[in-house]
Amino acid sequence: MVDRLKVGVLISGSGSNLQAIMDQCDKKNINAEVVFVGSDNKEATGLLKAKNSNIPYFVVDYKKIIKNCKKTPEFKLPNDYDLNKIKASQNLFPKNSVKEKINFFLLSRARAEAELLNKMCKHQFDLLVLAGFMHKLTPYFISKVNTPGKLPKIMNIHPAILPSFPGICGYEDTFNYGCKVGGCTVHFVDFGEDTGPIIGQKVFSITPDDTIDSIKRKGLEKEWALFPECIQLYANNKLKLETYSYISGLGKQITRTVVKQQSG
Ligand code: GAR
Repeated sequence: MVDRLKVGVLISGSGSNLQAIMDQCDKKNINAEVVFVGSDNKEATGLLKAKNSNIPYFVVDYKKIIKNCKKTPEFKLPNDYDLNKIKASQNLFPKNSVKEKINFFLLSRARAEAELLNKMCKHQFDLLVLAGFMHKLTPYFISKVNTPGKLPKIMNIHPAILPSFPGICGYEDTFNYGCKVGGCTVHFVDFGEDTGPIIGQKVFSITPDDTIDSIKRKGLEKEWALFPECIQLYANNKLKLETYSYISGLGKQITRTVVKQQSG
């Protein structure tokens, strides 16, 4: 029998995606098992879902860490931290953003991320999935999780049809724009915000009687199916990356890395 893919999950909220993934694992519909659940927030009700399923869980209190960083400007950084290197590789902020703002963001997140890494490394895992984890991850964390030359190891689910509506309010932004279809996307995490290679997407119609709440419900139902499907593609080694350059419709030279599904 092929080993089951060991999946770590990070959440911030109710964990309905976590539950959908655990259910598909339990039913053996996907060749995976959840080996830990982490949260940035001790109030996340999704942690109870981990507890009820006897899955190890932990909290890294981002709010407290960031507050402490604000109070103590000379806060201690991980020994291997190189701010200039991280700054040069990040795509979370435009390069002309206020320097102090970027520095504080990256340095304070480094403290939280070092603690996350420390807690995660107690569990062996093949894939890390962000199931409603509401913090941006920096290149410091991402580079420590990924293995150079191999497929990325972090997957995120986003509540919109990327590349439209990145950020934290995908369904609200879709609805308020007046879109007639909405959807969700699973993608690998790169050094930008919701910019990584797209693995899978599902869509739904938005009708005149829809509200933000009704499209969130429609969207979540699609998410619960999409995330396990993408994990299964990863478990079965069906994904590979390809990089190519092209001229966009707006005449810009673009280089993109995309996910291709391998047949067989
Ligand atoms: C989901 O809709 C997910 O797409 C979204 O948070 C929700 C988590 O729900 N993620 C993001 O917005 C990430 N930027 P859940 O806790 O019930 O799984």
